[in-house]
Amino acid sequence: MTTSPISNWSEANQRRAGDLLDLYPDRRSAVMPLLYIGSLEDGYCSDNVMRQVSELTGLTSAQVQSVASFYTMYKRHEVGRYLISVCTSISCMLLGSDDVLETIERETGTPDGETSADGLFSVEHAECLGACGGAPAVQVNYELVEGLRPEKSVGLCRWLRDAQPEVVLGDEMQQLFGGQRSFPWGPAEQEGAVAPVPAFGPYGSAEDGR
Ligand code: FES
Repeated sequence: MTTSPISNWSEANQRRAGDLLDLYPDRRSAVMPLLYIGSLEDGYCSDNVMRQVSELTGLTSAQVQSVASFYTMYKRHEVGRYLISVCTSISCMLLGSDDVLETIERETGTPDGETSADGLFSVEHAECLGACGGAPAVQVNYELVEGLRPEKSVGLCRWLRDAQPEVVLGDEMQQLFGGQRSFPWGPAEQEGAVAPVPAFGPYGSAEDGR
């Protein structure tokens, strides 16, 4: 009897992986979401996760690695509990994102591209987050807060450190610390992020139960 390469994953994630593989006529097409599910397991896109995904999809290790290394949202090293991504593209830069980034680096004690010694924060600059109308835009675990000014970013970092929310909700951060939004309408958010991994559908959401 052959053992599944993902037998050490949680039951929920094994089920998700199976559902995904059933979804595509060609297993290789599931490579990207599988890397995210694996990242939930290991906390980042580890060599182990890439090997497992290679075995699941039939892609070579080099092919899986080329996908994982191309996209910045696949993290190749452990990240903190809260990944803070500050957009430094043109709209945000013109509205002060450099100051926001500097303030967040100082407040968390974490330079751009690094993780704090206590593992609570990772800080990174990011390319356009698609929220130019609400610049400067920041994400925490890929949950968006728009119109974040430097002085409010201090409050955001302190709130994360003190409250340590299990689920990060963009709407909540927007209400507490945000400013102008790109679109000030839309349904209230029901799900947030429970890990510094993008939440597609149920992955990494409050519904996830992880
Ligand atoms: S330039 Fe920052 S969200 Fe587009």
